[in-house]
Amino acid sequence: MSIETEAELAGLRRIGRIVANCLQLMGKALEPGVTTRELDEIGRNFLELHGARSAPRLTYNFPGTTCISVNEEAAHGLPGERKLQAADLVNIDVSAELDGFFADTGGSFVIPPHSDLKLKLCAATKRALESAMNEARAGKFLSGIGRAIEREAKRSGFTVIENLGSHGVGRALHEEPGFIPGYFDPNDKRILKLNQVITIEPFLSTGARQVFEVGDGWTLATAARHLTAQYEHTMVITNGRPLIMTLPA
Ligand code: CO
Ligand code: CO
Repeated sequence: MSIETEAELAGLRRIGRIVANCLQLMGKALEPGVTTRELDEIGRNFLELHGARSAPRLTYNFPGTTCISVNEEAAHGLPGERKLQAADLVNIDVSAELDGFFADTGGSFVIPPHSDLKLKLCAATKRALESAMNEARAGKFLSGIGRAIEREAKRSGFTVIENLGSHGVGRALHEEPGFIPGYFDPNDKRILKLNQVITIEPFLSTGARQVFEVGDGWTLATAARHLTAQYEHTMVITNGRPLIMTLPA
């Protein structure tokens, strides 16, 4: 969507804050022995309390509330009986709808004890998100986002997952301008527009470039058990730095 009124901005901010607070709450509950289903329940209760509806459930009939992906799982992880363990790399992705507005956020966490590789992967992915946001300006090429993510991945010795990426959001979970790759595509001539609402979500990996569905109909994992991290914000494009909608408060 493109924000045209203050009321639309307020509506998007409201759901943005809810998903951000939900992500933070779930992140605090990460510890060995907790199942991904129990973690998802925390998210479900929080969204219900705020009158918000799970966007993947609403949009795709996802049989959970949030997506929880552990270690070799990269995205769309289906909550279930998997028990979290010490040193697991856990990605939580929360997207939800309230009053017709959709916001989408995500983040990766390492359960202590931390490994250097997992922390390095998380730090590089956060930097990729930051530098991609610096390229996201009205009037600039959309492909600057992928270029910034790819540059940060290469500099840090990691790869980019090519079949996962950022997207338009706001009135639906996935909308115009469609898929935004995490790598540079010189043929992509799309231009970012003032007040356009998009996510930026780099997926960096310790070696994988593709994810595959594991057979449960949802969870996307890497071959050869590579690790993947992701951080995601929903934002409004401006002439300067994007306005981040998914900050906790
Ligand atoms: Co997401
Ligand atoms: Co997203």
